[in-house]
Amino acid sequence: MSEARTIAHPNLALSKYWGKREGSLERVPAVPSLSVTLGGLATRTFVRFDASLVDDRVLIGGEEARGEARARVVGVVDRVRAAAGEKRRVLVESANDFPTASGLASSASAFAALALAGVRAAGLDWDAARVSDLARRGSVSAARSVFGGYVELDAGGESARPVAPCDHMPLAVLVCVTTDQRKAIGSTEGMRTTMERSPYAHAWLDAAPRLHAELRAALLARDFEHVGELAEASALAMHACAIAAGVVYWNGATIDTLAAVRALRGAGTPVYATVDAGPHVKVLARASEAARVRDAMRAAPGVERVIEARPGEGARLVDEVIT
Ligand code: DP6
Repeated sequence: MSEARTIAHPNLALSKYWGKREGSLERVPAVPSLSVTLGGLATRTFVRFDASLVDDRVLIGGEEARGEARARVVGVVDRVRAAAGEKRRVLVESANDFPTASGLASSASAFAALALAGVRAAGLDWDAARVSDLARRGSVSAARSVFGGYVELDAGGESARPVAPCDHMPLAVLVCVTTDQRKAIGSTEGMRTTMERSPYAHAWLDAAPRLHAELRAALLARDFEHVGELAEASALAMHACAIAAGVVYWNGATIDTLAAVRALRGAGTPVYATVDAGPHVKVLARASEAARVRDAMRAAPGVERVIEARPGEGARLVDEVIT
């Protein structure tokens, strides 16, 4: 038996990835993105290649995965098997310590933890860039969660790369969970529909690289306010493009929360908002102001609860047994 146990964290895109390269079956991003890996919240994954298994078994949160969810996991494992000449079936057990409805995409931490666990259980000695390329095959944003701190992925990029460590810019991310818990349209489908139907798809593909380059420069200059402005602009441009295709992730509480962020900013606190493929709002604040901003956001209409996160480490091995 050969097994490995890993841990990985979700990440929050400051400049957003939304859209794949045309005709790419391989999950290649059409635009560059820059994210911060979030400590505190984690996916833990166990992978074992086991000759006694007659088929692959995938357990997510203790439940047998089926259909598309299982196929995505097995697809990543198949690549590991091909690279390692491994014939055995696999047991994959994966669990998040944060609720799926928390507004943080679990696919990033899940596929980062899976890629690393699969590679290590198969005895492959791959560097982080290669693990990141593998994680991208499961979900593009997972390529970024392989690394800690601030991380970027190029347009057309195969693997992500670190831009700055966790302590580069003392940031707090306050995830404001809004009341609506309907299942949102998944990001793979949402971005496909956007690219096919939005009259603003080209405008987004044109704007995203510029927003990304400016945000990257502002981050390297440790200019928190400029990073926040650009992160908010990236999210609003992404959603404007998606909404025009009928891909609407926002609800009333999303808009109320965005208004609360603007009001706080108007009153002099530098806070900025970003939204992903769901109705929840993530607020960016200076770490030194996190407690005050958290209290203010808790009182905002439509905010059910606030989860606080800080920049965290990349995917890592907890233990392994190779036989
Ligand atoms: C809005 O990485 O989940 O969070 O590659 O189809 O799995 P797939 O999409 P995914 O998309 C993430 C979209 C986003 C922005 C981002 O994380 O950059």
